[in-house]
Amino acid sequence: MSEINSLELIHKFSQENLEKNCSKEDVELLVLHALDINRNILYRENPSLDEDQLKKITYSIERRNLGEPLAYILGNKGFWNLDFYINEDVLVPRPETELLVEKILTFYNSEPLNLLDLGTGSGAIGLSLITERPSWQIYCSDLSFKALKVAQENMQNNSINVHLINAHWLNAFEDNSFDVIVSNPPYVDENDDRLLKDGVSFEPIKALVAGERGLMDIKHIIKNSKKYLRDNGGLLVEHAPEQSNDVIGLFNEYSYRDIRLFQDLNGDDRVSFGKIT
Ligand SMILES: C[S@@+](CC[C@H](N)C(=O)[O-])C[C@H]1O[C@@H](n2cnc3c(N)ncnc32)[C@H](O)[C@@H]1O
Repeated sequence: MSEINSLELIHKFSQENLEKNCSKEDVELLVLHALDINRNILYRENPSLDEDQLKKITYSIERRNLGEPLAYILGNKGFWNLDFYINEDVLVPRPETELLVEKILTFYNSEPLNLLDLGTGSGAIGLSLITERPSWQIYCSDLSFKALKVAQENMQNNSINVHLINAHWLNAFEDNSFDVIVSNPPYVDENDDRLLKDGVSFEPIKALVAGERGLMDIKHIIKNSKKYLRDNGGLLVEHAPEQSNDVIGLFNEYSYRDIRLFQDLNGDDRVSFGKIT
């Protein structure tokens, strides 16, 4: 191909991929990534591309057309106020999960407290919180050692500090340790069509799927967190909208109080909260 500039290339590839996964926005982001520039420079300078950059972009578009999430191709995803390094060992953080961060910041001020982010993955929840509440002690745990490596990289990239722990849910902790426990656990039923949606099959299945119609891990966390929460401690869990009755039922069954349900930006039930006495 003779020399081509970035804006021409974005137009050309967008036209060629009209019916495919890779949208015009995706093409633009892949070009910015390959050139390591921002949009201002793209539109102001419209740089031309060399052969290697062109190959890299073509390969990235192929990956995207095969359904791979853009976050894995770019190696990052924005969540709350940070840019997270992301690879195939972790779930791509979802905008809905920001509701957990928002609610915790609304309920708890800067007074020092101990918080546990169970199933931290990339560290999205715990690391976002420590940037907002540096006086807190935040513990981020996961069963996947590979996920914790990603969380560690995100911690180092952002020069922030949390405690990273490799554990099966609450097994590693002592009783009465936390003021707040937060979790976005796996909650998708194995037969759910959402597993067939764009990109989801590329994500770690253990980060997504749980038994008992998706409720198994949620139930384990609600049942067992009581022992690890201090007096007046709170538990927040993310779940699917259609699970809200079951989840609220579990908070009641295990005698939490001040039980509340919150909706995400789409108006869907997404987060449940309860306190212990
Ligand atoms: C839905 S992902 C959430 C990741 C991240 N917190 C987020 O919101 O993007 C669930 C996480 O729970 C972890 N997990 C699954 N089973 C676990 C277990 N038994 N104990 C601890 N963590 C577990 C997975 O490795 C995964 O990182």
